[in-house]
Amino acid sequence: MDALVLTGIKSLELQDIAQPEVKPNEVKIHTAFAGICGTDHALYAGLPGSAPAVPPIVLGHENSGVVAEVGSAVTNVKVGDRVTVDPNIYCGQCKFCRTGRPELCENLSAVGVTRDGGFEEYFTAPASVVYQIPDNVSLKSAAVVEPISCAVHGIKLLKVTPYQKALVIGDGFMGELFVQILQAYGIHQVDLAGIVDEKLAMNKEKFGVKNTFNTMKGDKIPEGEYDVIIEAVGLPQTQEAAIEASARGAQVLMFGVGGPDAKFEMNTYEVFQKQLTIQGSFINPNAFEDSLALLSSGKLNVEALMSHELDYNTVDDFVNGKLGVVSKAVVKVGGEEA
Ligand SMILES: NC(=O)c1ccc[n+]([C@@H]2O[C@H](COP(=O)([O-])OP(=O)(O)OC[C@H]3O[C@@H](n4cnc5c(N)ncnc54)[C@H](O)[C@@H]3O)[C@@H](O)[C@H]2O)c1
Ligand SMILES: [Zn+2]
Ligand SMILES: [Zn+2]
Repeated sequence: MDALVLTGIKSLELQDIAQPEVKPNEVKIHTAFAGICGTDHALYAGLPGSAPAVPPIVLGHENSGVVAEVGSAVTNVKVGDRVTVDPNIYCGQCKFCRTGRPELCENLSAVGVTRDGGFEEYFTAPASVVYQIPDNVSLKSAAVVEPISCAVHGIKLLKVTPYQKALVIGDGFMGELFVQILQAYGIHQVDLAGIVDEKLAMNKEKFGVKNTFNTMKGDKIPEGEYDVIIEAVGLPQTQEAAIEASARGAQVLMFGVGGPDAKFEMNTYEVFQKQLTIQGSFINPNAFEDSLALLSSGKLNVEALMSHELDYNTVDDFVNGKLGVVSKAVVKVGGEEA
C-alpha cells in the first residue's frame, strides 16, 4: 500500500509498504482523510509534538476512515463502520492517569506521532481510541475531530455561561473553531482578533462574531472588557493582550503554544485585583464524544474552514510553506468513498 513516510528531518517519502497487522485489541482502518496541523510541522522539522516522533514513521494524528478489520477482542466497532481516532493513548498506570488527568500521562503515546497514523492507506489503532461517526457527519469533517476536541477540552476547563462576553485572539483554524464552539456552549457574544481581513470578515458574516479587530492594522482590542479570553496564537504579545483584555473575574485560556523559552509580561497585581483565572490546556482527554455531538448537531461547520485538500504529492509543499495562506489542510487518502 502507499504510505507517506517521514524518513528523517524534513524528509517525506512516498513508499510502498506492507499493510499493518491487527493485534487482538486493535482496529485496522482504511483511511479517508487526514488533517495536517502545527504539530505535523514540528514533527517534520525534528521537534517534538505531544511526544517525540522517531523516524521512520507515518504522521497523520488527525484522521477518519472506514473499519477494514477488527482484532478478536474488539467489541465497539465492526467492519464497514465510519470512524475517527483519538490519537492519544494513555498508559492507565501512572499517577496522572490514576488521578483523572490522563492528558498529563507520563507515558503518552499517539497515533501519527509515536506509531503510524493516517498518511497511508491503512493504519491501526487500539479499539479504545476508535469512535464511530454519526451518519450525518462527513468523513472529511470527522478528520478534524481531534483539533475540535482540543478546543472542547480547553472550554471544559473553564466555567462558561451565556452572559459572558468572549474574545478569541488568533484567526487560525483553532481560533475559528473556538468562535463556533463558544457559541455552541451558550456564550452570547464572541469577538475575534486576528491579522487576516478576509477571515475576520467571514467569521462576522457566517459564524456569528460580533466585533473583529485586525491587530496588524492598528485596531485596539478593548482593555478590561472580556469575561472569557481564548489566546490561540502563542506569542508573548498576544498573551499580554489576552491578560489586558480581561474584565474582573475573567478566565484566560492560554491555548496557543509558545516557544519553549518564551516569556510574557503581566501586571501581577491585576491577578489579585481582578481575581483572574489563567488556565493552560494540553491536548484533548475525554472530549471526542462531545466533539462528534457538536458536529452532528449542525452547530459546527468545519468544512467551510478547510482551505486546502491535498494529495500525498503536495504534502511536502505544504509543510515547506509553499502553499500561501492555509487555514486548514486535509490530505485526501481514500476520500468519502474510502
Ligand atoms: N493547547 C492545545 O492542546 C493545542 C492544540 C492545537 C493547537 N494549539 C495551538 O494553538 C495555536 C493556534 O493553532 P492554529 O492551528 O490555529 O495555528 P495557526 O498557526 O494556523 O494560527 C495562528 C493564527 O494566529 C494568527 N495571528 C498571528 N499573529 C497574530 C496576532 N498578533 N494577533 C492575532 N492573531 C494573530 C494568524 O493569522 C494565524 O493564522 C497554535 O499555537 C497551536 O500550537 C494548541
Ligand atoms: Zn493536530
Ligand atoms: Zn499514564
